[in-house]
Amino acid sequence: MHTVLNHPLVNHRVTLMRDQSTPPKIFRELVNEITTFLAYEALRDLRTVKIPVRTPVAETTCDHISDRIVIVPILRAGMGMLNAVLDVLPSATVGVLGMQRNEETAEPIPYYSKVPPMRGDALALVIDPMLATGGSACDAVAQLKKLGYRRIKFLNMIAAPEGVAKFEAAHPDVPIYTAALDERLNEHFYIVPGLGDAGDRIFGTEENSTLSKLMKVMEKKVMADGRIDFAESGELLRLARPLVGMGEDFAVFKRILQQVRADGKVDAAESKRISGILAALADKADAYAVCTCPKCGRPVSKRTIAGDAAKCPWCGERVGI
Ligand code: PRP
Ligand code: URA
Repeated sequence: MHTVLNHPLVNHRVTLMRDQSTPPKIFRELVNEITTFLAYEALRDLRTVKIPVRTPVAETTCDHISDRIVIVPILRAGMGMLNAVLDVLPSATVGVLGMQRNEETAEPIPYYSKVPPMRGDALALVIDPMLATGGSACDAVAQLKKLGYRRIKFLNMIAAPEGVAKFEAAHPDVPIYTAALDERLNEHFYIVPGLGDAGDRIFGTEENSTLSKLMKVMEKKVMADGRIDFAESGELLRLARPLVGMGEDFAVFKRILQQVRADGKVDAAESKRISGILAALADKADAYAVCTCPKCGRPVSKRTIAGDAAKCPWCGERVGI
């Protein structure tokens, strides 16, 4: 059984998480907030007992949670959801399962396990933001079952249909609660549209991988259609290098690449748009301003000019800002 939250408060937050320009601090806050909604939905049938309570007005009996709960984040990305669940279940205990996907095959490789022994009729809440092929979640639940856990639920942010199908076939007794059911997996086993690598986005480690992916894309472009020679791509990189770390680098690089024409130039109108993006970024860091080269019409950043004796990095024209 799987439940998709399907609620405007959740969907709005999922949209913000998907946006590649959302920085790690905001991303983590969104993970927290969505996890609270997931816990609310997943824990409707939590066991309670009646206990006597004296209010300022009367004696009464009220619900009190009696379930024993173990929260099990799948390392590393699952850690991003832990605090939100602990906030609503402060007496829960925590076990962790370390799992790393093989980048080529997407097979889960378990590397760590520290889960409290099963006691009473404890409920295990497995948490991981991504259910892609389903390998990691299936393996995590299998490990818990081996330890004797029988009551298990899986809380997740984004699921792919392939992962849901695999999980439900392997563990039909374990319900899935997710914030979004996406379209499919791509050829690298990433969820589409997804949100990229959840662990990297939570822990802020995506910069290098984004950049190296970008370099590969750029080199491929050069090889495949010859539109950009190495000098051009070097200049593109140099122009955009100061943007790295501002969370916008990938979007800017991609935009610039898309606008380079067959002759290696950028149309005046396009270059204005590129300048617009760069200028918006310049607002965030006044370390640079942007203008258009009067000769070749390509964007030039102030920092590049300062370092290059006021020369356009593309055509060598002297440019004043
Ligand atoms: C991610 C994610 C899940 C897994 C999902 O972890 O957090 O654990 O991939 O993919 P699957 O359904 O195909 O198994 P990853 O292995 O990238 O490790 P990380 O959390 O350390 O980034
Ligand atoms: N793991 C992630 O973090 N994202 C995906 O899209 C798939 C697996």
